[in-house]
Amino acid sequence: TTAVAAEERTSKRHTGGFVDEMRSVAMKLHTKDQAKDGEKETQGKSWRKWEPTIDGYLKFLVDSKHVYDTLDKILDKADFPEYAEFKSTGLERAGNLAKDLEWFKEQGHVIPEPLSPGIDYSIYIEELSKKDPHAFICHFYNTYFAHTAGGRMIGRKVAAKILNGRELEFYKWDGDLPQLLQNVREKLNRVAENWTREQKNHCLEETEKSFEFNGDILRLILA
Ligand code: HEM
Repeated sequence: TTAVAAEERTSKRHTGGFVDEMRSVAMKLHTKDQAKDGEKETQGKSWRKWEPTIDGYLKFLVDSKHVYDTLDKILDKADFPEYAEFKSTGLERAGNLAKDLEWFKEQGHVIPEPLSPGIDYSIYIEELSKKDPHAFICHFYNTYFAHTAGGRMIGRKVAAKILNGRELEFYKWDGDLPQLLQNVREKLNRVAENWTREQKNHCLEETEKSFEFNGDILRLILA
């Protein structure tokens, strides 16, 4: 559709700022079957061949909510003044995830407790946020932006396979998503303008960690 095409264009837009570097590092860490700019070989089964189960997907949603709750809490507390910029961007996911989990409960499913992928990642970013804002902001960027890109593709596939195509609130935003993303890119660029080259590199180097943790959470879909 036109909306999807417009959005894809926006997601690829070059901002001329630090976000372009963050995106470029992230794209290279994808496997070739995940994204066309991916450079890594596929390990294990391609995500396209995943056979999701409701139980696994619920684990993924619960752990995702745990991480988004933690991100909200960190930004609210704002140990570093730049975190305040990233509060209430409209990308927040915890409230929508709460609605989805409520719906699953009404359908008779038991909502599991968070597991180590979500718990470990939350502990990691909470600790990091207190002492290392450049590295923390890398996790903020990757977690939120990954969900709007590959996360949505996966969500659509899972919905078609096990939810009769039902679109969860997790994949809906109030307002125009491309615009919300663009606003956050501009904020990230503004904040990073004050960083030294060393601080920027330090932020970019954290991308791999974000992929590992978020990858473990994604794989819960198969648990
Ligand atoms: C972008 C797929 C996992 C971070 C993308 C894009 C695709 C994709 C196709 C490009 C979207 C566009 O056209 O602009 C996937 C798939 C994944 C996956 C299929 C797993 C099966 C991850 C993980 C992370 C991540 C684990 C890191 C936490 C990003 C980021 C972008 C991106 C930061 C850039 C988004 C933007 O510029 O708006 N992904 N991805 N992805 N992905 Fe992933």
